[in-house]
Amino acid sequence: SVVYRSDYKAPDYRIESVNLVFDLDPQTSTVFNTMKVSPLGAQPIELVLDADGLELVSIYENGVQLPQKRYSLTDKSLTVHGIDKPVTLTIVNKFHPLANTLLSGIYISNGNFMSQCESQGFRRITYFPDHPDILTHFHVEIRADKEKYPVLLSNGNLVRRDELENGRHLAVWDDPSLKPCYLFALVAGNFVKREEKIKLANGKDCLLQVWVEPQNKDRTAHTLESIKKAIRWDEQRWGLEYDLERFMLVATDDFNFGAMENKGLNIFNTRYVLASPQIATDLDYFNIESVVGHEYFHNWTGDRVTLRDWFQLTLKEGLTVFRDQEFSRDMLGKAAAIKRIMDVRFLRSRQFPEDAGPMAHPVRPESYREINNFYTTTVYEKGAEIYRMLQTLLGREKFKEGLRLYLERNDGRAATCEDFINAMAQASERDLGQFFRWYGQAGTPRVTVKSFWDPEAHTYTLVASQSTPETPGQTDKKPFLIPLAVGLLDPSGKDIPLQLEDETEPAGTTRVLELRDAENEWTFVNIDAKPIPSLLRDFSAPVILNYPYCRSELAFLARHDSDPFNRWDAMNRLMLEALNDMVDAIETGARPSVDQDLLAAFEQMLTDERLAPAFRAISLTLPDEQLIGERRTLIDPEAIRSAREELRSVIGRRYSSVLLKIAENYQTPGEYSPDAESAGKRALKNLAFSYLLAGGNPKALLALRSQFEQANNLTDQLSALTSIVNSASPAKLDMLVDAARKWNGVPVLINKWLTVQASAIAQPGEVPVLSRVRELMASGAFNIANPNSVYALILAFCNNAPEFHRPDGSGYRFWLEMIQKLCKVNAFIAARIARVMDNWRRYTPERARQMHDALKLADSLPNLPTGVREVLDKALGKQ
Ligand code: ARG
Ligand code: ZN
Repeated sequence: SVVYRSDYKAPDYRIESVNLVFDLDPQTSTVFNTMKVSPLGAQPIELVLDADGLELVSIYENGVQLPQKRYSLTDKSLTVHGIDKPVTLTIVNKFHPLANTLLSGIYISNGNFMSQCESQGFRRITYFPDHPDILTHFHVEIRADKEKYPVLLSNGNLVRRDELENGRHLAVWDDPSLKPCYLFALVAGNFVKREEKIKLANGKDCLLQVWVEPQNKDRTAHTLESIKKAIRWDEQRWGLEYDLERFMLVATDDFNFGAMENKGLNIFNTRYVLASPQIATDLDYFNIESVVGHEYFHNWTGDRVTLRDWFQLTLKEGLTVFRDQEFSRDMLGKAAAIKRIMDVRFLRSRQFPEDAGPMAHPVRPESYREINNFYTTTVYEKGAEIYRMLQTLLGREKFKEGLRLYLERNDGRAATCEDFINAMAQASERDLGQFFRWYGQAGTPRVTVKSFWDPEAHTYTLVASQSTPETPGQTDKKPFLIPLAVGLLDPSGKDIPLQLEDETEPAGTTRVLELRDAENEWTFVNIDAKPIPSLLRDFSAPVILNYPYCRSELAFLARHDSDPFNRWDAMNRLMLEALNDMVDAIETGARPSVDQDLLAAFEQMLTDERLAPAFRAISLTLPDEQLIGERRTLIDPEAIRSAREELRSVIGRRYSSVLLKIAENYQTPGEYSPDAESAGKRALKNLAFSYLLAGGNPKALLALRSQFEQANNLTDQLSALTSIVNSASPAKLDMLVDAARKWNGVPVLINKWLTVQASAIAQPGEVPVLSRVRELMASGAFNIANPNSVYALILAFCNNAPEFHRPDGSGYRFWLEMIQKLCKVNAFIAARIARVMDNWRRYTPERARQMHDALKLADSLPNLPTGVREVLDKALGKQ
């Protein structure tokens, strides 16, 4: 059944408080749930409590057993009839942690109890109105065996610990804040902690704790440092302080998502917690800091101010992603530009296709069948762009005022996207009515810019027009308010001071133009020579920009643009165009030739020692296959890979001496440090090696083999392994065996080992990657019940386009098998894997036909979980 945003009804009662007593046992746990319920109006209410897979034991009203006729019980709910005054309801129920393979509610991970409630997991624990707008005060008592579960945690403050009979013990937690049940958390098990007491800006003490399984104790220092940085940054940048006596973070290997912002007790996937030079790459260190920040920042944007309903998801997720992006950028110092580039690269290769496919939905959706399917790149990443655009349009100060006003007004409440925009409008005294369309209209806008230079009048005019393609259910799009940041470069590459025709003097070299209509134009004066425009600086809006740059202009921008994002983007466009030509050639059976402008620009940047190594590394990395495919009419994954590999090998051969020099000069000897500068050097060095290897360079192969054996850090080891696995060298087999031996017993490492193999570039004559994937699935390295494992092997394989899309259809049959298997284990993960077929219409006809067949077969399977059915139906265009 479909849920619509327009169906929202405000509750007609309040839950004043809830007291939960847990008697934990892995097979069957019991909950004693006591709620104080007050009707809000004069009418008696029907209290609908949600449920999913629970066993009701008994129910009492004010201590008296409730007669049968006062309630009705279905699979999905328990309704108490005719409550006409404040009452205390006590419900006793049971649930089964060990059997919970969906990992939603309370489940078992490595023998410990773990919880995940967002979005609708709390109803798998006890009977409760499982909606984000029901805020209440939680008081929790946990009882469990003391030896097996020495650590008992929940939200808020620890009130009491005590011994019980039969080797059991208890802990009582009280959360002084009001929260909805999706922010509830419970952890019980054998954990060790790293802790530190800090002083908050307001002078109060706060205890920080990172809890992990004992074997991981030495891998938590970076996490704790990241929490401290996040706390300081939120204080300094936004004036936002933490509000509890303690902030706890727990790590688990079995987790559906990245992490979860439960009030005062964040729960994390181990892949976003554990770090040491041996088990985390530079990028892992970086991502851990950003995810730790993200969850911490939710304490304000998500917890203190929560959501009225799930349609508002972006109100906390888009906003918090924006906040974590700004945090990571600030933490990078000189290398800040890299963060924006990484974020936009991700948006373009993941969110743009989503916005152009059958699952396209507005940042604030209008309907869903399974809310879990809407934790998407659109809600998160495109959502973040909405907040960034506001900051760009209003300026940092007004935006900050608006955010503070929003938080003040809605503290302790469940808010909507309107509440946010209203606060921004008030703080900035601007009408944001048109801007609000960004929440409601799906699809990536196209902005087409034309330029006219008038040498006589010394004026330069930019004409920008916009249009947004149709998306499912939305045919008629109205114009967006689009902030278009522009600069103009003079023929020497310098920024021109910008003066619009109605202004008396120039104001700055980057101007934010506001595109509001289908078409707008702006004329700049005192432009003495024909400039080259630098458009959409810092990617000021999530749009596709069309401007008829010729390749030498792109090369010029790549060399001179003062906006680092656009400098990168110019290089990226140049690469994309060159690759596109090569794919064309390959598809028509011709020999692909490499664009000379591109090579010149590549060499120029490669040897420009003034540029930070990290910036050079990211700029000289070829666009991924997904992105190359995006601009093709029909996607032929084999042709795309051949083109990309051909270009890599041409570069590797043509610039071998420069690349070898770089590989030598950018070593990072001494003790490992994940700081941005060292990480940048490693990135550039390892990129150089990967080009050299693609060009078949024997010296590089030798160097990488010894790097694999001797490096003191995972970044270098993994990079060497990946490059060699993707090369023709037979050394790869020994190295993989070696890696398995070294990495055995550490799940985050074994998962990387699986991914290297699932994403491998198969060489001519080698067995298809799928054969290897099937072997690995049957080995002890893989566990279908573990989401990280599924993503590391199965999803990685599905994203290995030429292998997944082999013309024999073997990939699609494998996909169907996996859907069948996963539906029985974890419907959320199944729905995620289902989505790899979303854009089947974009592939070459024979592939599209086979994909369509596989989708239909999947859709006809009996007992499909709602979420999987929703994805399949949409892919098939059924609704
Ligand atoms: N709120 C979590 C975050 O910080 C993610 C929870 C994902 N939940 C889900 N049902 N998909 O982004
Ligand atoms: Zn989040």
